[in-house]
Amino acid sequence: MFGNHRTDVKSVDAESLAGLGLDGQFAVADTHTKDFVRLPRGSIVLQAGEAAKSWENLRDILEKMLEIDLTRGSWLSGIGGGVVCDISAAAASLYMRGLNLRLVPSSLVAMVDAALGGKTGVNFGGYKNIVGTFYPAHELLICSSLLTSLPEREYMSGLAEAIKTALLGDPELLTTMEDRSQDVASRDPELLEDIVWRCLEVKGGIVERDLTETGERAYLNLGHTFGHALEAVAGLGRWSHGEAVAWGLARAMELGVSLKITDPAYASRVIALLEQYRYDTERQPELTSRILAAMKKDKKRRGSGVRFVLQETLGSTQVVEVDDDQVIQVLGG
Ligand code: GLY
Repeated sequence: MFGNHRTDVKSVDAESLAGLGLDGQFAVADTHTKDFVRLPRGSIVLQAGEAAKSWENLRDILEKMLEIDLTRGSWLSGIGGGVVCDISAAAASLYMRGLNLRLVPSSLVAMVDAALGGKTGVNFGGYKNIVGTFYPAHELLICSSLLTSLPEREYMSGLAEAIKTALLGDPELLTTMEDRSQDVASRDPELLEDIVWRCLEVKGGIVERDLTETGERAYLNLGHTFGHALEAVAGLGRWSHGEAVAWGLARAMELGVSLKITDPAYASRVIALLEQYRYDTERQPELTSRILAAMKKDKKRRGSGVRFVLQETLGSTQVVEVDDDQVIQVLGG
């Protein structure tokens, strides 16, 4: 583990963000977020998109940090979605064994998930996030008004992670999602602020207890074993990350019911919510064998079966190794 500091989380409005004094500091942004703040001279602007999360860009960032003589007391700000947050946090953790890190997540998935909890990384050798460190940000600035301009698909992708987070530990948030779907869809600013903060509370509690994922942190992968496999098999871009996670949540509920772990009424409630938000929860039986093969290749796998995060009900979560036959049944044979 690299950083053992706590993260100071603050809300800011767009105006304060634009006026953020970063002179004499260093920042990393991307082509979508470069105008959200006045970037200090020498900042790096990455091309938006997953391809930017590369070893080469990490090296370029570190080279620039050295060139402009940053010291251990300097600040690096990462302004952007998950890619910018992950790569700038990786650079912050490595340079002089760690300097001050401020993250300003610009997407919903980065606000509710990527920017909190200290996972940093770049993709390497064909594997996602295979090189990285644990290094929590010193400061996390939440500007929920940035969410109003997100493309719809990206917003819905982040919302699936918010639903997952509610299932892990916030019954009130689940009820809000059920009762106020119109306001969620129209991105009511107060509601969004509330959703983001509630998710940060749940995730913050989990990572505070288990920063390096020796136990409970794995629960954050609820829906992800199925979801990652679907994403990998269906082909790039066919399912967004969140759409695949929503589909994976439905499968995890069904698997839990078939193993008599999950309360069937709870599983129906979760699947009904996902459908209320128009996520595709249909089984994809034609992909069964490829999905199973992809799950078996997952680097998190141990033992002979595949390990899944399953729930008895909201807030009661466990990791279970499941035999292939039972998984195949849930995938539709
Ligand atoms: N996104 C999962 C985690 O932070 O552990």
